[in-house]
Amino acid sequence: MLFSGLSEMGDDPILLVSKMFKASANPNKVDLGVGVYKDANGHTAILNSVKKAEQYLVSNQDTKTYLSPAGNANFNQVVQDMLIGADHPAVHESRVSTFQTPGGTGGVRIGLELVKKCNPNADIWISNPTWPNHTAVTKSLELKPRQYRYYDTKGGVFLFEGMMEDLSRAKSGDVVILHGCCHNASGADLSNDQWDELATVMLEKGLVPFVDFAYQGFSRGLEEDSYAARLMSTMLPEALIASSCSKNFAMYRDRAGAITLISSSAEEHLKNESHMLGAVRVNYSMPPDHGAAVVAHILGDTDLRAEWISEVNKMRNRVKKMRKLFVLKMNEKAPNSDFNYIEELNGLFSYLTLSAEQIHTLINDYSIFLMANGRINIAGLTEANIDYVTDAIASLFNSESV
Ligand code: LMR
Repeated sequence: MLFSGLSEMGDDPILLVSKMFKASANPNKVDLGVGVYKDANGHTAILNSVKKAEQYLVSNQDTKTYLSPAGNANFNQVVQDMLIGADHPAVHESRVSTFQTPGGTGGVRIGLELVKKCNPNADIWISNPTWPNHTAVTKSLELKPRQYRYYDTKGGVFLFEGMMEDLSRAKSGDVVILHGCCHNASGADLSNDQWDELATVMLEKGLVPFVDFAYQGFSRGLEEDSYAARLMSTMLPEALIASSCSKNFAMYRDRAGAITLISSSAEEHLKNESHMLGAVRVNYSMPPDHGAAVVAHILGDTDLRAEWISEVNKMRNRVKKMRKLFVLKMNEKAPNSDFNYIEELNGLFSYLTLSAEQIHTLINDYSIFLMANGRINIAGLTEANIDYVTDAIASLFNSESV
């Protein structure tokens, strides 16, 4: 038989948390797993700007005929402007393209397919820890993942020196996956000076940056958060940027993402583009339009754009507020714990510096669902559940001291 003899594939560690949360019958259950923004009521609402754009499309869109493997051209333009700016040197030199992909993951996949075509021996350097799909997609293409130190999950410490030391072992032509901002899973980002230092070393060593940029707007602001993507794609001759509108447009299921390619010359770029679009054609032919059409409409309309920016700011500020509140409550409830580092971090995620056993207790005794490695989604905290969560975590410390 053809379809027999496989052993079962393990669950993706993030999707597993969602599955466990769904299956739990505990009325107090809390979902701190998958990276989805939730409002103060614990709801992932549709943004007003998105609703309005959807209404506009319902009334005005007059065809759903095919676009092309590159996707929605207006979307590609506005996304590229938002990522690297319209005045980017690669724009003037005709050596940059942005193609719509199904979500940021589609962008990662198509970017790595081009890497594989150009050099199957390129190592793909991935931060330790990272979003698990970086490694999974790399392996699925039979490219070789290598790890660089990034964050000590048990101590809550960013390891910039370790990162630089590990990357000093990379060879010319290797690809380095970098998180544009709001590192998934630690929330620890490089400072602008550290980005400068890294870009200088990568240029000297001939390394190629692949910036995964899924949280633009969730760290400091839409413009400020693009520092790394702009720097890497300006200082280095070649770069890839995978981006996503899942989080900042709260359009998770619409799968609006993109891959941006910067080549060293206009001549090489034309050839690279053709291979990238060829990879699209054999994978999914063309990306789905709806989410991209919504984004293109919002970013192309002055009022809607302003409304969307204020919605992004609101999401960012709520997460920051919950970081503060979490630290305040933990200091009150378990003065012998130290979660102060959480306040300084960016975006949706942080690690709880807990043992595997303590994490197990939170999941099994309290139905607080987080990743087995301690990653939590701060946006899953609300005024309604913060006491339940911080009481549970405090009990781990208070029972230790009894
Ligand atoms: C996450 O890290 O939780 C999100 O990026 C969702 C996903 O697809 O894993």
